[in-house]
Amino acid sequence: MKIGVLTGGGDAPGLNAVIRAVVRKCLANGHEMIGIREGWRGILENKYETLDRNSVSGILHRGGTILATSRTNVYKTEDGEAKVIKNMKDNGIDALVAIGGEDTLGVASKLAKAGVKIVGVPKTIDNDLSATDFTFGFDTAVNVATEAIDRLHTTAESHNRVIVVEVMGRHAGWIAAYAGIAGGADIILVPEIPYDINEVCDTLHKRHEGGKSFSIVVASEGAVAKKKEGEVGMILQDQKLDSFGHVRLGGIGNFLAEQIEKITGYETRSTVLGHIQRGGTPTAFDRVLGTRLGFCAAELVEENKWGYMAALKGTSVVGVQLAEATGELKTIDLQLMDVANTFFG
Ligand code: F6P
Repeated sequence: MKIGVLTGGGDAPGLNAVIRAVVRKCLANGHEMIGIREGWRGILENKYETLDRNSVSGILHRGGTILATSRTNVYKTEDGEAKVIKNMKDNGIDALVAIGGEDTLGVASKLAKAGVKIVGVPKTIDNDLSATDFTFGFDTAVNVATEAIDRLHTTAESHNRVIVVEVMGRHAGWIAAYAGIAGGADIILVPEIPYDINEVCDTLHKRHEGGKSFSIVVASEGAVAKKKEGEVGMILQDQKLDSFGHVRLGGIGNFLAEQIEKITGYETRSTVLGHIQRGGTPTAFDRVLGTRLGFCAAELVEENKWGYMAALKGTSVVGVQLAEATGELKTIDLQLMDVANTFFG
């Protein structure tokens, strides 16, 4: 078969490990491999490159994706589905391996229903995809955020400051919870549990009255205040929507820092980690997970398991239905926040 591979949505460290594994295993099984550039845009606009053993050599440790990515939505493009099917036929592409998050895999799931031979691989630093215990990229993002929190601790302590660290996580606070626990945060705010700024400030007060002169607050970009008069919802960078209907989040760090300084009188700063969490070298965990998921995707191809996705379940990597992964987002395990709470204040 001639098999196309694409990466869609925001990049995540470990994408190249997946591409390498899919290509090496499918080549070994006798298939021809073709890279589709820039996610779904590449198949709509016929942007391809041949993938051989050489093209995936030396990429395991590299961040980003050698195939480039985009947030193009096939179903927001005129006749998108028909174009995908036609372009696959015209270019002799028999099947697809789509590596992506809820948006990319949502498209993959619809295409599978339309009869396209497709398997998926779950990706997102946010770790919010259902049907898999972890997504690759998450571990790297948590390590980057934890190192940042460690560094911010020393400067916060030296200056007797509160520092608010804004991390990624639109609808799920996985990065904030993990990095916050690993970095010993004094408060963690996640989208799943709306916060009350006065309660946040009370907790900081108690800590400072107890003898501490600095604090670290970790906040997901999607953290929201409890709906009370005068309080706001998600903080947005602007009102623009991408082709999957997502707004651009960002600004919660500054917003909280201003409020905390005003209410407590403690000098407060904020740091936004932003895309630093998505860039650079993947951790060993993400390289291994990406490799195992890519290997499994190649096996799903061999077994003609179209409409399936590779997933981590416990310590095993198995095939699950794509529809299972894209039904609803995986929010954090609230037990994590019970653990984190023990160390607040
Ligand atoms: O891929 C998920 C994510 O990292 C979110 O956490 C974040 O809100 C978003 O991507 C940022 O997207 P972009 O790269 O388009 O600014």
